[in-house]
Amino acid sequence: MTQTVSSTVDNPSFALTRPVHVEAAHLSVADLDRVGAFYQKVLGLDVLDRTASGMVLGTGRKALLTLTTRGDAARQPRNAAGLFHNAFLLPDRSALADWFAHAVSLGVSFEGASDHLVSEAIYLSDPEGNGIEVYRDRRPDEWTYHGDGTVEMATHRLDLHALHAEAKPSSWQHAPNGTALGHIHLQVGSLPEADRFYEGVLGLKKMASYPGASFFASGAYHHHVAANIWNSRNAMVRENSMTGLQDYHLSFTDDETLGTTLDRLDALEIPVLREDGVHKLVDPWGIGIRLSRTAD
Ligand SMILES: [Fe+2]
Repeated sequence: MTQTVSSTVDNPSFALTRPVHVEAAHLSVADLDRVGAFYQKVLGLDVLDRTASGMVLGTGRKALLTLTTRGDAARQPRNAAGLFHNAFLLPDRSALADWFAHAVSLGVSFEGASDHLVSEAIYLSDPEGNGIEVYRDRRPDEWTYHGDGTVEMATHRLDLHALHAEAKPSSWQHAPNGTALGHIHLQVGSLPEADRFYEGVLGLKKMASYPGASFFASGAYHHHVAANIWNSRNAMVRENSMTGLQDYHLSFTDDETLGTTLDRLDALEIPVLREDGVHKLVDPWGIGIRLSRTAD
């Protein structure tokens, strides 16, 4: 049985107005200057803050991606738990077309392009192999929800020629206001363990499943967090010195949802470090998670 849920909420804010959404991610890199330059040039992020060992990138005043480096940084193996991709959500198809034309003009290597029914997505990697998705959502009233609240997703070919033809000449300068980290996709060691953690501990709902992957969301988004075992089946806990994903930040739009989540963490005796309004924990694979109330 399927039903189509009507919604008047325009994209892209739907992802961000849910009770929980992804705010930002933090990567450890070996070559800070090289990777930082890539995100500025290719994605058009601004440098919001810079130190000798780190850089905060984003749009306007909104931080989306922190890069840090350390002397003992060791490149993570491809099958380590960690990041599959950071997914940068653009406001609409027009912005995706303009960004795609910009990236083509830079000679960027793309790794895929898909129509997921709920979204249209293009895939690439940064110079150290950290996965990147750039996407736009279809409007939620165009998504098909099933009777149990899950959402129909698929992977079809995205017509890049048609997308490119829609680009306005040279109109893409940098990431537009409203660009967000719409979701984060992780490599994990076990899907049942991921289901237990993201549903049972963090309280997200499993919205869709693919062979080897689960998609979790808050508030009927298609997914804020995905987890797969395609490269990382049986991966162990990450080592601190590994490059790649150090942590990501989940933002809660209301006190009640955050309080309920923290109570569940307490009840399960999962260690949480509380610091300046941010609650820090690690997932079963050593990926850091920061929980906080959405800043006003
Ligand atoms: Fe994704």
